Amino acid sequence: MLCVEGINKRFNGRQVLSNLNLRVGSGETVALIGSSGSGKTTLIRTINGFVVPDSGRVAIQGKDIDYRNREALRQTRKRIGMVYQLFNLVERASALDNVMSGALGRMDRGIHLLVSTVGFFQKEDRDKAMDVLRFVGIEDKANERVDRLSGGQKQRVAIARALMQEPELLLADEPVANLDPKTGRKILELFLKINVGKGITVITVLHHIEAVRDHFRRVAAIKDGTVCFDGKVDELTGDHIDYIYKSDRNLECAAA
Ligand SMILES: Nc1ncnc2c1ncn2[C@@H]1O[C@H](COP(=O)(O)OP(=O)(O)OP(=O)(O)O)[C@@H](O)[C@H]1O
Ligand SMILES: [Mg+2]
Repeated sequence: MLCVEGINKRFNGRQVLSNLNLRVGSGETVALIGSSGSGKTTLIRTINGFVVPDSGRVAIQGKDIDYRNREALRQTRKRIGMVYQLFNLVERASALDNVMSGALGRMDRGIHLLVSTVGFFQKEDRDKAMDVLRFVGIEDKANERVDRLSGGQKQRVAIARALMQEPELLLADEPVANLDPKTGRKILELFLKINVGKGITVITVLHHIEAVRDHFRRVAAIKDGTVCFDGKVDELTGDHIDYIYKSDRNLECAAA
């Protein structure tokens, strides 16, 4: 369903993604790991069309992303749900309103759209939002303002908002980094429930290897902007982990 082929990206003359290849089948779950600065977020942003690669291609369901065509990009983003570390919710709005804004499929502009569209949602949007809130386990918080929710509850709202789009692919960038381990595990379990229950392909950036081992079968590791390990979690050895996280170009830079 996702084919990333020979992606290169430079920022300020520095190679951030380097001939990066990644293929993900429909209905798979992949944990993306790698040290800080290795290029994980840049890869996620290339897949959802916010970073334009210098060369290479990204195809979703066999269709190449056309980075020069704004309307085509908008259509691509509609098919991709995004979940972020800091939730990116409208704190002063209710959980339900945040989730309904997902129906617009333009979450990066959600704040503006929410302000301009609250009150104009159809009854079916409201019913659907309640359904997804139920699916993620917080329908009882539907009318609660987001700033009154816990971190785990906020992330459930953010996931519900992404599901509201009915995405084919769910991308998450460190979705549990701001949660305590137990809450984080529950959120990872929710991703698996989404994958199995809704057949949505899930790719998520994670930092805790133990959580990766417990919840994911496939892991892809990025080092210096390229995939240096891609396989079953069981095949990921301590030596692999040392290689992935240590003697990284960035660490060497930091030490120099
Ligand atoms: N828009 C940008 N402009 C300039 N440099 C950028 C930009 N986005 C990312 N970079 C640089 O690209 C490199 C990779 O960044 P990226 O955010 O993809 O890393 P990451 O693997 O997600 O790291 P972390 O684990 O800390 O989130 C970093 O050196 C970063 O400073
Ligand atoms: Mg990142």
